[in-house]
Amino acid sequence: MTTTQESPTAAGSGSSATEAFRASTLHSGAGTDPARVSAIVSKLLAGIHDVVRDESVTYPEFQAAKQWLIEVGEGGEWPLFLDVFVEHAVEEVAARTQDGTKGTILGPYYLPGQARLATPATLPQRPDEKGVPLVFTGHVRDTDGRPLAHAELDVWQADEQGYYSGFAPHLPDGNLRGLVVTDAEGRFEIHTIQPAPYQVPTDGPTGKLITAADWHPWRPAHLHLLVSAPGHRTITTQLYFKGGQWLDSDVADATKPELVLNPADQGDGTTAVDYDFVLEPA
Ligand code: DHB
Ligand code: FE
Repeated sequence: MTTTQESPTAAGSGSSATEAFRASTLHSGAGTDPARVSAIVSKLLAGIHDVVRDESVTYPEFQAAKQWLIEVGEGGEWPLFLDVFVEHAVEEVAARTQDGTKGTILGPYYLPGQARLATPATLPQRPDEKGVPLVFTGHVRDTDGRPLAHAELDVWQADEQGYYSGFAPHLPDGNLRGLVVTDAEGRFEIHTIQPAPYQVPTDGPTGKLITAADWHPWRPAHLHLLVSAPGHRTITTQLYFKGGQWLDSDVADATKPELVLNPADQGDGTTAVDYDFVLEPA
C-alpha cells in the first residue's frame, strides 16, 4: 500500500483505512432484500428522530451534524468511525451463534496477504524495534480438543508508539504483521513486542467529535488475530494485557475478560504468555 502522508495523522490513517476497506473482500455478501433494508433503515431513522425530539435538537446542531458527516466522508474516516463506535454491537450479534474462542471487532487496520511464517515465527520488525519483547505461544484446537495442524494465525498489531504499518508512513510495509502457521501438533510460537495503547487520531473529524464530547480517544494495547483452519469457522479476535491502561474504558468497547493475557516477566526484560484458541466446525 502506498501512503503519501508525511506523518501518522488522521488524514493518513483515516483515508488509508478507506482504501484498505475498498480493497478488501470482507464487505461483500450482504443481501438486498427490500424488507430487510426497510426494517433496518426505518429503525435507524426512528432512532435518530427520537434523539432529535428527546434532546430538542436545534437547527444549528442539525447543520453542524451535516457538516461533520461531510467531513468524515471527505477525510475517509468512515471505516475508522464505524469500527470504533458501531462494530462492537455487530460483533455481539455475530457472537450469539459462535462457539469456541471469544471474538471481538476486526477494526480498520487489517491488511491481507502478509508473509506466511512457519512456527516458531518472528513477526517482521525493524532492527531497532522498540517495546518489551513478547513470546506468545499456544495451541489451536477444535471444540473436541483435537489439535489443528497447519491452522493459520493472521496477526497484526501496533508498535510501541501505537501505530500500525500500512497506515503510518514512517513504518515499513508488513511491520508487525504476519500469517503464522501451526505445526503438526497445532502449536504456534510467535516472537514479537508488546504493543502500546492505540489512540484514535485526534486531528480528524472522529477525533474532533471525541474532543467536542469530552470523551477519551484510547483503546487498550492489543494484538489482533484472525485464526482459521480448513473446515472451521474463522475467529476474528483481539488479545489485551492485564493491568493495561484503558482496559476498562476502551473507546471501541471491544474488550472481553476472556481475551486478557497476563504475560510473565522472564527476569531478563522479556515476557512470555501461553494462550490457546478453539475453533468450531464451519
Ligand atoms: C480502530 C483502531 C483499532 O486499532 C482497532 O483495533 C479498532 C478500531 C479505529 O480507529 O477505528
Ligand atoms: Fe487495533
